[in-house]
Amino acid sequence: MRNSQPKHLVQPSYIREILHAATSPEMISLAGGLPATSSFPTERMREAVSVILDDPTALQYSTTEGEPELRRWIAESLNSESLNTESSTPTHTDINQILITNGAQQAMDLVARTLLKAGDKVVVEAPAYPGALQVFNLARANIIPVDQESAGPNLKQLEAAFRQQPKLFYAMPDFHNPTGCCWSVSVRREVISLAKKYQVTIIEDAPYRALRYSGETLPSLYQLSPEGVFHIGSFSKVAAPGLRLGYLCADSKVGESAISDITVVKQTTDLHSSTFCQRLLLACLQEPFHTEHLLMVRQDYRHRRDTLAKALTDQLGDQVSFAMPEGGMFLWLGVNNIDSDLIAARALDNNIAIVPGSVFYPGHHSKKTNKIRLNFSHATPALLTEGIKRLAGVIKGF
Ligand SMILES: Cc1ncc(COP(=O)(O)O)c(C=O)c1O
Repeated sequence: MRNSQPKHLVQPSYIREILHAATSPEMISLAGGLPATSSFPTERMREAVSVILDDPTALQYSTTEGEPELRRWIAESLNSESLNTESSTPTHTDINQILITNGAQQAMDLVARTLLKAGDKVVVEAPAYPGALQVFNLARANIIPVDQESAGPNLKQLEAAFRQQPKLFYAMPDFHNPTGCCWSVSVRREVISLAKKYQVTIIEDAPYRALRYSGETLPSLYQLSPEGVFHIGSFSKVAAPGLRLGYLCADSKVGESAISDITVVKQTTDLHSSTFCQRLLLACLQEPFHTEHLLMVRQDYRHRRDTLAKALTDQLGDQVSFAMPEGGMFLWLGVNNIDSDLIAARALDNNIAIVPGSVFYPGHHSKKTNKIRLNFSHATPALLTEGIKRLAGVIKGF
């Protein structure tokens, strides 16, 4: 299934390279998808560590599936979320449907490794999360891009793509990276019905789903059709990415491969995710701490998003355009008539790091776009305002 020289199949992540360049103290970075460092539950973890170490099995080898208590927490939280979401039917997720992974990124990779063979078709929205493109390229998939519109994928293009019998559709309905787009309920239903009609399995990547700042929670694709969807979650954005924990949830009937096949692939890869980190995470998921922590994070990010939007409007007015994201970590900015690669390069020279939109398209080297991605969760409100002042200077200088 794998090429013996996978290096040739994957482009290094431009964003990781920018992050490297953006470490100088003068640089303001709106480039990475980093959570606010101040949001990490360090005190809670510090208290939990000594209790966790009272039981040395925290440092022992463990099961590939993950800690049963964590898997139960995830299954129950998916089920209670479905009860609290309008226009959703209750799900009955069972602990055996949950595999703990090293972040959402590994969940995606495991699905690709298990399901895809070279040349299989995978449909993605364009623009797309580059980490997913890397996974599908490494699996030597044939990527079919479908344009994203304001309420989700262009359904005509999606149906045309589904007619080509792809193996998977990679979807991010909640607060898309990079666009911040949140699919409407009708698009979600339409996508499910097309996927059923053409028997396409969906990977729903939902790392930002808990980060909603305005509007109503909408049913996930998994809630709408548990039997047709691999649902992927992450604790990177709501706890800390350094824990490297996420999960894959799959009904036993999804696609050709059930969760047990994927578990064997994970076993081959790394045996299991860190037990110590899983127990640390469990300490942060206890109530009332977890709910209070989430409320605090949402309030903080809402303020940062609003600060960024105001700075853009104040500094750049009608030279730019954007839709206010209802959640997530990104604002997708259109800059009138200037190529995003030129803006990003000149911005770096002016100590402001942003990501050009071209990076988010399959085969991005040829893509010209006037869009740039701005992260608002990492820089403080004061730095966001200063960063946009610098960016405005760059844009006005063209
Ligand atoms: C859309 C998307 N999927 C997956 C990931 C990876 O998340 P994790 O840290 O859980 O591996 C990211 C990280 O930024 C992301 O934006």
